[in-house]
Amino acid sequence: MCAPTHFRVAYDINPWMTRNIGSTAEGAQRQWERLVALVLDIGGAHIELVEPQPSLPDIVFTANAALISDRLAIVSSFRHPERRSEERAYRERLSSLGYATTRLDGVFFEGAGDALFDRRLPLLYFGYGWRSEHSAAAQLERLCGTRVLPLRLVDPRFYHLDTALCPLTSGHVMAHLPAFSPKAQALLRMTLGNEYLIEVTQDDALAFACNAVEAGDAIVLHRASGALRLRLQRAGYCVFETDLSDFHRAGGSSKCLTLKLDDGPVRRTTKNTA
Ligand code: ARG
Repeated sequence: MCAPTHFRVAYDINPWMTRNIGSTAEGAQRQWERLVALVLDIGGAHIELVEPQPSLPDIVFTANAALISDRLAIVSSFRHPERRSEERAYRERLSSLGYATTRLDGVFFEGAGDALFDRRLPLLYFGYGWRSEHSAAAQLERLCGTRVLPLRLVDPRFYHLDTALCPLTSGHVMAHLPAFSPKAQALLRMTLGNEYLIEVTQDDALAFACNAVEAGDAIVLHRASGALRLRLQRAGYCVFETDLSDFHRAGGSSKCLTLKLDDGPVRRTTKNTA
């Protein structure tokens, strides 16, 4: 994670920022500290930090640092010049944490903002269209050694995959289907079936319900409707809401503010029949 010391809406690279450019975010530090406390106390996670920098207001959204696949960090290649200087800071920090670092060849790729592993199937969901490019899929497949499911994002408000899709350890996947092209919607339905797909309404999705952090049996998010809370409880989770509205002005919520460091594809285990 990265403290929001220098966080502000300084430029306009998504529709959320368009509306809020120049606005200050006085509550950001308090909101971020509460998120940290929830992830630590309830989730029992350990947190590593990256240094905030005055010229990089969006560095607080560490989901975009890289995709972690076991001990490899595939560092982002940002589409917008405004965020490109974050790449070096993220690469150096991940390398100091012991990860081998690499980047994709000649394509835009925005890390765990656009690439999320299924927790039950050996599969990587990959969102493209607004930020990452479709041609990244083949390189990701090779580097992660798992099947990649490319999904075209079609609504500019859901410009990163993690604003519209959230795979959970239980095997369930929260998804706001209208954010995806018809073909991508069909692929998601086919892959998940009714049992594992948790459909998220537009109201919930616009409150960033898909941008949730899972820690232990807790799900931490900005807000969820009663129906979504119930669905998540039935899947075995306790739902914790925490106000992240200051970060929504820049187009991100709880998941965007974190990068999962112990990540990677599910491996098929061979049963020991001895
Ligand atoms: N302002 C940032 C951007 O537009 C927000 C990034 C949110 N991150 C995410 N993983 N969805 O790039």
